[in-house]
Amino acid sequence: MNIHQKLPFIWHGGDYNPEQWTQATWWEDFRLMQQAGITVATVGVFSWVSLQPAEDRFTFEWLDEVLDGLHTHGIKAILATPSAAQPAWMSQAYPHVLRSDEYGRRMAHGGRTNFCPNSSDYRRLSGNIARHLAERYRNHPALLLWHVANEYSGHCYCETCAQKFREWLQIRYGSLERLNACWWTAFWSHTFTDWSQINPPFRGSETLMHGLNVDYFRFMTESQLACYTHERDILRSITPDVPITTNLMGTYKPLDYRRWAREVDVIAWDCYPHAKQATGEIAFVHDTMRGLKDGQPFLLMEQTPSSQNWQDVNAIKRPGVLRLWSYLAVAHGADSVLYFQWRRGRGGCEKLHGAIIEHSGRSDTRLFREVSQLGAELKRLGDAIIGSAYRARVAIVFDWDNWHALEDAIGPVRNKRYLETVNKHYLSFYRRNVAVDVVFPDTDLAKYDLVIAPMMYMLKASLVQNVEMFVRKGGTFVATYLTGYVDETDLVFENGYPGPLAHVLGLWVEEIDALYDDQHNTMILPDGSGTYICSHLADVLHPITAEVMATYGEDYYQGSPVATRNRYEQGEAYYLGSDPDQAFLDRFYEAILDKHGIQPVLITPSDVEATARYKGEQKILFLLNHNPHPVTVELGTTVQRDLLTNQVCRKSIILEGYGVSILVDEPEGD
Ligand code: GLA
Ligand code: ZN
Repeated sequence: MNIHQKLPFIWHGGDYNPEQWTQATWWEDFRLMQQAGITVATVGVFSWVSLQPAEDRFTFEWLDEVLDGLHTHGIKAILATPSAAQPAWMSQAYPHVLRSDEYGRRMAHGGRTNFCPNSSDYRRLSGNIARHLAERYRNHPALLLWHVANEYSGHCYCETCAQKFREWLQIRYGSLERLNACWWTAFWSHTFTDWSQINPPFRGSETLMHGLNVDYFRFMTESQLACYTHERDILRSITPDVPITTNLMGTYKPLDYRRWAREVDVIAWDCYPHAKQATGEIAFVHDTMRGLKDGQPFLLMEQTPSSQNWQDVNAIKRPGVLRLWSYLAVAHGADSVLYFQWRRGRGGCEKLHGAIIEHSGRSDTRLFREVSQLGAELKRLGDAIIGSAYRARVAIVFDWDNWHALEDAIGPVRNKRYLETVNKHYLSFYRRNVAVDVVFPDTDLAKYDLVIAPMMYMLKASLVQNVEMFVRKGGTFVATYLTGYVDETDLVFENGYPGPLAHVLGLWVEEIDALYDDQHNTMILPDGSGTYICSHLADVLHPITAEVMATYGEDYYQGSPVATRNRYEQGEAYYLGSDPDQAFLDRFYEAILDKHGIQPVLITPSDVEATARYKGEQKILFLLNHNPHPVTVELGTTVQRDLLTNQVCRKSIILEGYGVSILVDEPEGD
């Protein structure tokens, strides 16, 4: 579904909660939104009780006026269903709607996302309000996109969920014997003799059965997803042409977003880095969100225009950084720049959260000016970026199930550093402006030259198959320590590690040593060309067909291999048995990139990012100066035009501190 049909440019806007304000304020808001170049407003998130004050009473009149007002001001609506927080009347009338905590205790009404995802009353009533909204606004000219609920999150541990979980397990395992075998329940006399004995992983009772834990995570992902698809199907049946999504939270561990990606028309996510976050970490999450739907552009659904209020320290984005980080998102695949939120509330726990209109209610503020300038600029950009895509020859594999299984495992170290390690490998490419796609075990790898799968402890059959095929046809694959321990049920592979990838990697792992934080070992290259630090974990491994690239410099395994390369059919597979320092990784990946002739988008000064999107054959080059001071970037020989300023640049360009340029080739002589 082409989500940009109605609005073929980068959307600019964000969350708007008119139900917290008087009518007079709405009309002031519409006027100010227009002034700020807002093209889209997200309304209705958390509006349930304002739309349905009692089960048999609906009050849509205020929303009618808001949607009409937006429309007459040329603003489209992302219309939310309100189901992220049920009204008190509902919790009161149907107590089973309330979620239970990890101890199985039903929670009292309050907060948000406080519903049981398996409650039939919740499903019925959330579907019902979605149907009312769709029927009422199906032909409203402002309706642009459906936003179902808001940030589905957390897990429920109630009796309804427990029962549904048992049914889910019966389908998954077929028999109790098989479940007992996969979960290795003979350990500690945990064999189940009846399905009714199985419970969610309640804190205080069964939290150590890893097969159960990872299955409960999968089950909760599916339960919440079913809430989404239930509403979606109702909306779809009434408004078949309006795209539907929900807002995700980046690398949010409790829900497997790869599963969600199939069910939404467009990925939308809420980006809340802290003010000092490394841009390489933010870019990684954007790339992950783009990867969810195999490279399709996504929506930046929320970001704070200035500060959050829920971090320990909520520093304001420095002048220029809002613009810079908005284009950072666009450069990595976003087709919208949306904020949370338009106007700061006078009460509630988010009253000190950044918003475009602050408590002064004024528009003569630095923030309003920055937002308005960005709005004007996005308008000028028009459809230049819409329809363009990212191109990468390097991929990093990320997997939610693996994340759960790996961090759940007890030993060999408590802190497994999964995200940190994936990000560390990613940074080797990010820093040199080499494009990376984040992919998943089921992604077809054919279009890549280099695929890196850090710490694939839970190694899925789909990934094994994809990697085998990829290397066979000439690809370069990189794996690390803690690869190939358990299968999808969390049962360790027979014949040890790296499990079913042993033949591709050409080695077996005998032992894994854990290093204390203040300890390290060294990696020595055989030709004497370098010694690097390695830490965290250290495999004692044995090549079968692999050749040794580096050996340990210390300890009882001194002289034994730490890094290997195995030729497998047309390709090769590297194995890193310990966690190398960034200098090693940089050198290691440079050689592989050279071998495949993979070029950076552009060579730039430090902390100046160059990223590209491609529209057909046209390259759209984003230059992002993450430094507070100006820099000069050499552009090479071509003549380029800056889409933001319309200026033509030859040879080089000066970027202001936190400055951005978006360049396209300019035919010489024009
Ligand atoms: C999330 C929610 C918003 C708001 C912001 C505050 O992203 O979706 O409703 O609570 O956080 O940062
Ligand atoms: Zn429940």
